[in-house]
Amino acid sequence: MQIFGVDIGGSGIKGAPVDLDRGALAQERYKVLTPHPATPDGVAAGVKQVIDHFGWTGPVGLTFPGVVTDGAFVRTAANVDKSWIDTDARALFRDVLGGLPVTVVNDADAAGIAEMQFGAGRGRRGTVILLTFGTGIGSAVFVDGVLVPNTELGHLELHGHEAEKQASSKAKDDHGLTWEQWAHRVQKYLAHVEMLFSPELFVIGGGVSRKSEKFLPHIDGLRAEVVPAQLQNNAGIVGAAMRAAQQD
Ligand code: BGC
Repeated sequence: MQIFGVDIGGSGIKGAPVDLDRGALAQERYKVLTPHPATPDGVAAGVKQVIDHFGWTGPVGLTFPGVVTDGAFVRTAANVDKSWIDTDARALFRDVLGGLPVTVVNDADAAGIAEMQFGAGRGRRGTVILLTFGTGIGSAVFVDGVLVPNTELGHLELHGHEAEKQASSKAKDDHGLTWEQWAHRVQKYLAHVEMLFSPELFVIGGGVSRKSEKFLPHIDGLRAEVVPAQLQNNAGIVGAAMRAAQQD
């Protein structure tokens, strides 16, 4: 079975039909740039472009980089336009897509759902935490494979600063950090999250998961195992489609 997945990120809106049996993209993904400011209407127009590229007419799962309740309602907007807050994103996307069935899920939760089923978290029990390092830091917490949604661990305070402002991959670029310097910050952040949750496993997602050899060797001293995500940049697309399938 196939469902369309769309990942709405700080820089791009990317999507593809997803083969749910394999947890993989059924066709090469298509990407448009995220408009700035990333307003609801601007993002919805970008999503429509992606869907129209494939002529898709079935169910669609979308990620959003903020808290999303009931598969629909946006509650926070740290890295997109604040006018998203309290919008019914499901209704917005459904309308712009001519009435297609739509489900919306937090981006890190979507990546986590995909990694637990098809990637680095497959078959793992106990507490597993996936963290995505990109424009912000996203989190997905699983206990025996069950998601605790909308955990928002990127906004934890660390040494008087918001963690995602210190240790996201955007922070690495903004502050001109080397991989080793950045890894040092990530290490402190992981130690803080470990102190709070004692997970068995951390899965490191986001664009940096493709370059794990550059920073994972600098991360040690944690009780938890730390591994890179396996679906890398497609985890959000795959997880959004999986979530849409669960909602049907
Ligand atoms: C948002 C999260 C999101 C993360 C990654 C954070 O700023 O609050 O909801 O998962 O960025 O995009």
